[in-house]
Order: sequence, then structure tokens, then C-alpha cells
Amino acid sequence: MFALEIKNLSYSYPDRTPALEDINLKIKAGKKTAILGANGSGKTTLVYHINGIIPALEGGVTVLGLPVCKENLQLVRQAVGLLFDSPDNQLFSTTVSGDIAFGPRNLKLDPVVIDQKVHDAMQKVTIEDLADRPPYCLSLGQKKRAAIAGLLAMEPRILACDEPFSGLDPIVAGQFREILDELIEKGSTLLYSTHDVNLAYAWADEVVLMKEGRVLSCGSYDLLRDENLLQHASLPLPMLAQLFKHSKEQPRTMEEAAVLLEPQPQVSQAKNF
Ligand SMILES: Nc1ncnc2c1ncn2[C@@H]1O[C@H](COP(=O)(O)OP(=O)(O)OP(=O)(O)O)[C@@H](O)[C@H]1O
Ligand SMILES: [Mg+2]
Repeated sequence: MFALEIKNLSYSYPDRTPALEDINLKIKAGKKTAILGANGSGKTTLVYHINGIIPALEGGVTVLGLPVCKENLQLVRQAVGLLFDSPDNQLFSTTVSGDIAFGPRNLKLDPVVIDQKVHDAMQKVTIEDLADRPPYCLSLGQKKRAAIAGLLAMEPRILACDEPFSGLDPIVAGQFREILDELIEKGSTLLYSTHDVNLAYAWADEVVLMKEGRVLSCGSYDLLRDENLLQHASLPLPMLAQLFKHSKEQPRTMEEAAVLLEPQPQVSQAKNF
């Protein structure tokens, strides 16, 4: 079952800069898919097509079977929550809580339900103390957490996140990954862009490698062990793939690697009686 289907999608910006060329992808439902590529490879442009922020000019995108087009935009945006790379593109209300309530209010939900959703979302990313602050006065990481809370309050079935962890400190980034994992366990689908090969190696089911607006390759995270492919994508090999290049063990996380590298207890010599 696929949550998203992208067919023959090509796009050039109004100034004629080519950004995407004949993209064909099927994104599995209930999985975490990382879009990887060097700067300018087209990741953001692709993510913006998923909920119609950039309308497809050539080819198209289907979300849960629904074509992304003007007529379906409201339904598509209920299904797909988009997290911008820069939170400044996402926050525009006078208070953080007002911003988080914006999406649920648009759905015309009961005010009591909206208050609860806003409260829960702020609690998840621990920004209750920022509820009444104007978003433009916050630090980058705080703004990002406010934007994440806005996304969570909408409970979308598909989360399309452009560089979701940039600007977050390691603890908050870890907490956000746990929140996303919980949502995926409940059936959500995550598509996220990143340059971070280590993150994708540890924390993606599927990967899409992009170069100059094209898909170089896509498939399981195993692809990230292919040194030639990564070199072609102008990306480094993940650290653990490099370290365990000649080993039959292939740990994906530091925790798994630490277990493998622990000295094995000496087997005591059996005495000959
Ligand atoms: N508003 C714009 N107008 C014209 N060209 C643009 C615009 N935004 C992006 N581009 C161009 O489109 C191409 C793809 O850019 P995009 O932002 O999608 O790449 P990216 O993979 O997200 O890069 P990064 O890793 O730096 O975020 C690049 O050549 C870029 O210069
Ligand atoms: Mg980008």
C-alpha cells in the first residue's frame, strides 16, 4: 500500500531554474522514508509538491489515492502535514498557542477540542511555558518546536518534513524522533528530507537518493552502504557503514555498535581430569 505516488514530475522555477526532472516514486504507507541529496538536489522542491504548495506543472502527485490539484487542496492538506525547513515560513500568529490552534480552527473543530489539541501538542514538545510568547521572539529551536506542535495538533496521516531536525538540540531532536516513531506505529507515514546520512542509516526504512533534480536510486536503507552510489550523490558513507565495511555485522546505531565492540568474556579453560 502506497501513501504517495509521484509520476513523471518535472519542475522549473519561474526564473527557469530546473529543480526536478521526471521524478517517479511510490512512498510506502506506515514507513519512514528519507530523501537524501546534496544542497540544491531538489529535496525541498519535491516536498513542497506533496501538499500542493508548489503546484505540479508537469506530471503529478497522488496522496492516498487523491490527485494533488486545486480542487482537492483542502482534503490533501488535511491528510498531509508539512513542516518547513525554516520555522519562519510556518509561524505567523501573535502567540505560539494561537499559531498551533490555527490548523485545528480551520477544521472548524469544537473550541474545547481545539484547546485540548493545542495543550497536548505543546506538552509533547515541552513548550507550554512559551504559549503566550510571540513566535518571532523565540530562538530558532523554540520556533521549530512551535512549528512541530502545530503539525502534531493537526494529526495528519502523512507527515512531510523538510529537514525536520535542523536547529534542534540533540535531546529535543531525540524526543521528536520518539514522537514520530509513536505516530508511525499508529499508522502514519513519514517522508523527510535530510543531508544527514548517519541519521537516515539509523532511522529510515526506505531512502530516496537525489542528484540535480533526479532520483539516483531508491529502496531500503541498505542502499546507504553502497559507496559508489553515495559518491555519485555527493554524500559521504554513513560512519557506521564505513567502520563496519569489512565486517559481517552491520550495526545501524551507536548502541548496536557498542554491543558488538564490547570485549567478550573469556571462556574459562576446561580442566583435564
Ligand atoms: N525560489 C526559487 N527560485 C529559483 N530557483 C530555485 C528556488 N528555490 C530553489 N531553486 C533552485 O532549485 C534547485 C533545487 O533546490 P531545492 O531547494 O529544492 O534543493 P534542496 O535539495 O532542498 O537543497 P538544500 O539541501 O540546500 O536545502 C536548486 O538549483 C535551487 O537553486
Ligand atoms: Mg532544502
